[in-house]
Amino acid sequence: MIKLSPSILSADLSKLGEDVIALEKFGADMIHIDVMDGKFVPNISFGMPIIKAIRKISKLNFDVHLMIEEPSRYIEDFAVAGADIITIHYESDIHLDRTIKYIKSFGKKAGIAINPATPISVLECIIEEVDMILIMSVNPGFGGQSFINYTLNKISQLKKIADKYNPSLMIEVDGGINADNIKAVVDAGANVIVAGSAVFRNNEIEKNIRTLKEGI
Ligand code: DX5
Ligand code: ZN
Repeated sequence: MIKLSPSILSADLSKLGEDVIALEKFGADMIHIDVMDGKFVPNISFGMPIIKAIRKISKLNFDVHLMIEEPSRYIEDFAVAGADIITIHYESDIHLDRTIKYIKSFGKKAGIAINPATPISVLECIIEEVDMILIMSVNPGFGGQSFINYTLNKISQLKKIADKYNPSLMIEVDGGINADNIKAVVDAGANVIVAGSAVFRNNEIEKNIRTLKEGI
């Protein structure tokens, strides 16, 4: 089954609670939460307090995408705040194996994200140890960018390796996904789709989620 994980980076933050409730009501499968530190990526978004606040009003799995340097410093805080899946960037941590084990020690699912220019081959040793791999299809930092087409090939490469070494792996793709390209992303092998602007466009969450799901 293909899961949709809307990114609240594109939500109307002046009514975040309402938007989160709407996501659950209109068929989102999880909630993607983009944490940015202004160093690993050139933008700053939100952190633990926001997660803690929306944890009170949603039962959906929180899919927390950490775009921060040395994420091991904050794993416990995000676990306590209410994350269900914690994803760190390959490019931000030189002790990936240790941090993945650390995430799991809190009973959370662990993921690794890779930037568009990072090859799939760097994941070969660790693929059996993680619950999710997130392929960035834009350069991380901002919502509303265009999908980078060469990442489609990376999704199929990952799918092949996952079928062999970790068939239950969640293959998540994040950035620039809309109703026109969602099918290509799913056909390449993704099973968790992140969408920010395509879900919140014109504040028509119900219609946008329906259109995306129909596009698969
Ligand atoms: C970008 C974030 C994405 C972003 C996706 O750094 O990781 O999750 O919110 O937004 P869209 O779907 O608008 O590209
Ligand atoms: Zn993201």
